[in-house]
Amino acid sequence: MIKIAVLVSGNGSNLQALIDANLSGQIVGVISNKPEAYALERAKKANIATAVIEHKQYPNREAFDDVMHQQLLDWEVDLVILAGFMRILSEKFVKAWEGKMINIHPSLLPNYKGMHTHQRVLNTGDRLHGCTVHYVTAELDAGQALAQGVLQVGIHDDAVSLASRVHVLEHLIYPQVAEWICNGTVIYTDQGVLFKEQPLLEPIQFCKF
Ligand code: GAR
Repeated sequence: MIKIAVLVSGNGSNLQALIDANLSGQIVGVISNKPEAYALERAKKANIATAVIEHKQYPNREAFDDVMHQQLLDWEVDLVILAGFMRILSEKFVKAWEGKMINIHPSLLPNYKGMHTHQRVLNTGDRLHGCTVHYVTAELDAGQALAQGVLQVGIHDDAVSLASRVHVLEHLIYPQVAEWICNGTVIYTDQGVLFKEQPLLEPIQFCKF
């Protein structure tokens, strides 16, 4: 059975969706860089081990990442799931977990990498918005996309309503992609990602109109 660690910094609604999905892999631990993250309570309620590794206590990014890396090794983790983890990871850490680490980002990548995605979508006047699950590479929000949830921006939407509508999609697609990895439907290879044994050329799309 695949062993999963989830990295969080905040509320952890995506962690909750992963817990509730009863994946065929096992979530063996949750790491937070913030001691006050509500995600830690969610993990404890589900009897999942937790570790608080505060970035502020380390002199630099590499030192912080080394401690996280060691914790993941101690838990014998096969898959790292970033779920609202708001730290940029060092190249060394990302290389060590290449093909074994996924992230969810609140935009239709490659559009709107980085922060404040909902407001930036509104500022541009885009009609479509959503979220993307992707492998993590050293370049921010740029690894191969596995799945996207797409919604239509309504005339009454603001950044708050968009955030909550995107969350609904996130809770749908993230557990699905995690399960695909756990059960071998999605396989990472050096030549590219396979979906049902075929090269995955485009992210799988989930639409909510
Ligand atoms: C999610 O919307 C996720 O896409 C975003 O943080 C939120 C976490 O919510 N992640 C990023 O912006 C990463 N760059 P949650 O803590 O309730 O799961």
